Amino acid sequence: MTVTTQLRTVLRIFDENAPESPLREVTDGAEIARELGAVGVRFERWTADRPIPPDADHAAILAAYRSSVERVQQDGGYATVDVLRLAKGTPDTGPIRRKFLDEHAHTEDEVRFFVEGSGAFYLRLNGHVFQAICVRGDLISVPAGTRHWFDMGPDPEFTALRWFNNQTGWVPQFTGDPIAARFPRYE
Ligand SMILES: [Fe+2]
Repeated sequence: MTVTTQLRTVLRIFDENAPESPLREVTDGAEIARELGAVGVRFERWTADRPIPPDADHAAILAAYRSSVERVQQDGGYATVDVLRLAKGTPDTGPIRRKFLDEHAHTEDEVRFFVEGSGAFYLRLNGHVFQAICVRGDLISVPAGTRHWFDMGPDPEFTALRWFNNQTGWVPQFTGDPIAARFPRYE
């Protein structure tokens, strides 16, 4: 089985008609935040308020990031924040991965913070595709209505915080555009 070894935040910016090679590749967190901020996408790198033990439960994880979690909640007016964990080695993740691999949008913002693990967001904005590979410590907020897709990789592993008002807003509204299949997957 292929193991996802990418452990570094990377932003690749493509022309949406040229998936073969990115126009730019950025690894500096502040620069990634500037590039994404310029198209209305929030990106931040966080450090925990306190150390997180490896066996931390959801309450301990939320407590470790409390100040940042509350700031995002207030800024976005989100009612709820929860913790989603997909453990390494979880069987039959193929269908879960495929669920978000096609271009779609949501009626709610898709706000994620990676407590651990990683995943790749692809945002289609202004004629470009922004591939944001997010790792531990990264927050990204995909605004409602933004065309995007998400690849958790072939051997997914992540713990993510999610802010939301109504979970029905997460139902993907697929655009039917096959663009995602032309771009490199997160392997
Ligand atoms: Fe989505």
